[in-house]
Amino acid sequence: MTPKKLGRGVALVGAGMSKFGAFPGRSTRDLFVDAFTEMQASVDKGLDPHDIEALYIGNYSSDLFEGQGHTAPFMADWVGLTPLPATRIENACASGGAALRQGILAVASGLYDVVLVGGIEKMTDLPTEKVTDALATASDVLYEVAAGFTFPGLYAAMATAYMARYGAAPEAFMQVGIKNHDNGALNDKAQFGVTIRAVMDGKIAKAQAKGYPVPTWRDELEFLHDERANPVIAWPMRLFDCSPISDGAASLLLVGEELAKNFSDDPLFIIGSGQASDGALHDRAELTSLRAARLAGEQAYAMAGVAPQDVKVAEVHDCFTIAEVIATEDLGFFQPGEGYVAAEEGLTARRGPRPINTSGGLKSKGHPVGASGAGQVVEIWKQMHGLAGERQVRGDLNLALTHNVGGTGQSCLVHIFERR
Ligand code: COA
Repeated sequence: MTPKKLGRGVALVGAGMSKFGAFPGRSTRDLFVDAFTEMQASVDKGLDPHDIEALYIGNYSSDLFEGQGHTAPFMADWVGLTPLPATRIENACASGGAALRQGILAVASGLYDVVLVGGIEKMTDLPTEKVTDALATASDVLYEVAAGFTFPGLYAAMATAYMARYGAAPEAFMQVGIKNHDNGALNDKAQFGVTIRAVMDGKIAKAQAKGYPVPTWRDELEFLHDERANPVIAWPMRLFDCSPISDGAASLLLVGEELAKNFSDDPLFIIGSGQASDGALHDRAELTSLRAARLAGEQAYAMAGVAPQDVKVAEVHDCFTIAEVIATEDLGFFQPGEGYVAAEEGLTARRGPRPINTSGGLKSKGHPVGASGAGQVVEIWKQMHGLAGERQVRGDLNLALTHNVGGTGQSCLVHIFERR
C-alpha cells in the first residue's frame, strides 16, 4: 500500500508538562495550567496565546476519577482560550497520543495553523480499588471484567504467555523497572523519581533506625524478589512492575511547517504518524505482541520514510514492564522474543545503543493515563534539544519516536519526530 502522507507538514514548536505525582487539592485544571505555562515558556520566539486556533485534549475519564465530564472547554477556559473550539479525545491510556494525532490532522488539513494539544488526568482522589474499577472499563467489560480481570491481571496474562513462548524469566521484567527508575531518578517531573537501589537502601536504613531485623538484600534483584518489599500484584507482575496511580498534565504546540520559524529557531517536525485498533485481548490468537502497535509503527515508519534502526531515542508505553519488552519488539527495535534479552543486557539503558524511556517511562515518571501520550512527547522535545540534563542521551538525536497504547492494545499510536 502507498504510504499515507500529510497534506501539509506539521511542526512541534513548544512542549511542557506539570510534575506527575499525587496532588491532593489540585484539579486537572491546575495541572493543565502548569503544563500550558511551561509549554509557553518553551516557545523560544514567544507565543501569543491569541494565535492559538483550537484545542485537542486527551483525557481518559475525569468523569469517573473527578466527577467532571466535558473537560476540554474547562481546560480552554482556565488557560484563557475560550471561545476557541475545544475537543476532548478519549482512547483510554492512548488519549494523549490520539489528541496529538487529531491536532496533527487539523493542522495538516489546512483548517488551522496553530493548535494546542493537551493531555490530562487526575486519578489519586479515589482509593486504589475504585481506580482499578475505573481503569478496567477500558478493557472488555462483557468478558474480561466479568471474568475478574483487572489491568495488572491482563498484562500478567501477556507476561506469562511471553515467558512460556520465549523462555523469559521475571528477572528480565525487573531489569526494565530498575532501568526506568534509574532514568526517572534524574527527572524532576517524575512521581517516583528514585532508583530502586535507593528505595532498598532507605528500607534498610529505616529498619536499622527502628531496631527491626535488618533485611539482607545484596542488590536490587534480591530486593525485588522479596515478597514483602515487592509484593505480587498479578503474577508475574509485582509492585515494581506496575506504573503508579498518578495525576498530571502535558501540553504541546503544533503549527504548520512553513510557519514554524515564526515560533522557534529549532522546531521539531512530525514526519510520521500511525494509528490502529484491535479487539479485546481474550479474543486474540497472539498475546505476546500487539497487532495495533505493529501496524501503527509500520504506518509511521512508512510516512516518515525511515526504519526502526534510524530511531535514536524512544519513549514507549511501559504501563507494566512486560509492555516495554513487547513494545521494543513491535516497533522493530528487536526481533520477537529478543526484547527481554535486550533488557537483561542493558541495550535499552540511557547509555546503551537503543535508549528507551529516558524520562523514567510511565513506571517511574508516572502514568496519569490521559496525559501520558503527550507527556512522552515532552521528553522527546527535551532530548532532541539537549535539555534533558543528567539523563541526556549523547550524540546527534535527529530522529525520535513515541509509542502510546490504550488498554491492552485496542488503540495504539506511534509518532516520529525529526530535528533538522
Ligand atoms: N511502583 C512502585 N511503588 C509503588 C507503586 C508503583 N507502581 N505504587 C505504589 N507504590 C508504593 C507507595 O509509594 C507505597 O510505598 P511506602 O509503603 O514505602 O510508602 C506503597 O507502594 C503502597 O502504596 P499504595 O498507594 O498503598 O499502593 P496500592 O497497593 O494502593 O497500589 C498498585 C499499587 C500497583 C496496585 C497501583 O499502583 C496500580 O494499580 N498500578 C497500576 C495502574 C494501572 O493499571 N494503570 C493503567 C495501566 S493500563
